[in-house]
Amino acid sequence: MIPWLSPLRIRAALATVPLALPLAQPLAAQVPIPAAALAKLPPALNRPVDFKTEVYPLFKSACFKCHGPEKQKGKYRMDTREGAFKVTGDHGPAIQAGQSSKSAIILMAAGLIDEMLMPPPGGKPGESDPLTPEQIGLLRAWIDQGAAWPEGPIADVVTPVRFDPDLRKLLAASCANCHSGPGAEGGFSVDSLERVLAGGKSYGKVITPGDPRKSSLLTILAGKDEDIPKPEAHRVPDKSLKAVEEWIRQGSK
Ligand code: HEC
Ligand code: HEC
Repeated sequence: MIPWLSPLRIRAALATVPLALPLAQPLAAQVPIPAAALAKLPPALNRPVDFKTEVYPLFKSACFKCHGPEKQKGKYRMDTREGAFKVTGDHGPAIQAGQSSKSAIILMAAGLIDEMLMPPPGGKPGESDPLTPEQIGLLRAWIDQGAAWPEGPIADVVTPVRFDPDLRKLLAASCANCHSGPGAEGGFSVDSLERVLAGGKSYGKVITPGDPRKSSLLTILAGKDEDIPKPEAHRVPDKSLKAVEEWIRQGSK
């Protein structure tokens, strides 16, 4: 770009001209979202949500690749509080505490802003899946509940979850009755990390390390797999489900 024609310079030059120009107005007007479109936003989850264990990890898996320490597409950086709360170029505040339906990240994640679906489609498979309605509901709930973002670096606060000892114990307690040793049901055994990653006879692999959304194990454990025999034996408490999900997100090590 020719430096003396850059928008900043033009703005600076105009600012020195004592004309009654409406310079205070933003250069690009924010396009209002029609009420009918807003009404289609997935509803906020109806429970308290936790920033460090739920929201930040979602930002990390879905957004940091392009808005993190390495890249800041659209000049937007989401891994720090200051960066995440920025006022976007054309679409108002990225995050407006208390008002999820006025927060650009929600409108973008839900695809309500033309050409600005976030994450953008068309990346490598698994890297740019749109957020699920539930994930959007989670972010809405966090914003509506005040968008709390504690001081200090967050990455250090997310506790690592490893197969040893965390997952081994959890799976032994809930699953080893039926999924251990040579007679493990469906050939699925929780006896070692290798066996868990290998999956079972009919389901094959049930874990995609790093990608909870592609890991059918979570559907089974949430009680949402309609085909699994003995569904009641497969449903685990929310807390365990979260731990398994976090373990997968962190790479299933
Ligand atoms: C594959 C890369 C990629 C991923 C992943 C991604 N974005 Fe973006 N994002 C972009 C690009 C590129 C732009 C700039 C688009 C433009 O201005 O036309 C952008 C712009 C934005 C902006 C506007 C910033 C501004 O100041 O105008 C927001 C807000 C945003 N992204 C939020 C998100 C959120 C929230 C996520 C995760 C749910 C996400 N993005 C994931 C590539 C990405
Ligand atoms: C009361 C016994 C029981 C318990 C406890 C149990 N399962 Fe199962 N599981 C089964 C049976 C029966 C099957 C079906 C096996 C078949 O298809 O032959 C199965 C199938 C599976 C499969 C699919 C295997 C395949 O065929 O590919 C997975 C994965 C699985 N269970 C995971 C788990 C996990 C993880 C736990 C612990 C949270 C668990 N199960 C707890 C009995 C149980």
